[in-house]
Amino acid sequence: MQGVARNFFTLAIIYSLCGMALGLHMAISADHGQMPTHAHTMVAGWLMSAVFAFFYHLFPAVAQKTLAVVHFWLTAISGIGLMIGLYVMLAGHPAIEPVLGISSMAFYAGMLLFAFIALPAIWKN
Ligand code: HEM
Ligand code: HEM
Repeated sequence: MQGVARNFFTLAIIYSLCGMALGLHMAISADHGQMPTHAHTMVAGWLMSAVFAFFYHLFPAVAQKTLAVVHFWLTAISGIGLMIGLYVMLAGHPAIEPVLGISSMAFYAGMLLFAFIALPAIWKN
């Protein structure tokens, strides 16, 4: 694995370690108040980043494009903003909500960009 694929897979591993640590913390403390943070870190973080990593590994020519690098940074920065924002909000600080809103929309924009990158690649030939 190289480039954008390797970056996405590294990000996926970081999400999995943080998300599972949070899951263990919830289970041990019997306080499931951070369940949405855990769920999104595991599924939108670990699983989605791993899917992106394997896509770019399967399509190395697409991974070379500048748009793929933009997709990585947009997804990484907004995703981290989303997870941290959610954690802080559920910890009882609703003032973080604008950060959460902006991060969510940027994360959606990242998915839209991925659709624009991936669909032409899989429909070629
Ligand atoms: C160390 C391993 C893990 C622990 C200790 C753990 C713990 C938990 C706990 C305590 C909850 C809250 C359950 C509730 O309140 O109903 C939860 C929910 C959840 N977990 Fe984990 N988890 C782990 C791994 C994972 C993994 C690997 C994934 C996915 C790849 C995952 C995805 C989810 C999801 C999606 C929910 C929300 C389920 C719902 O909507 O009801 N978890 N987990
Ligand atoms: C634009 C980004 C996203 C926003 C704003 C968002 C928002 C939400 C909201 C408001 C809920 C309900 C939470 C609750 O009732 O406590 C939810 C639940 C959930 N979402 Fe998302 N979501 C986003 C992206 C995703 C993505 C990309 C995935 C998976 C790949 C995902 C997986 C889930 C799961 C598994 C649940 C159920 C677990 C829970 O209740 O926390 N979400 N999401």
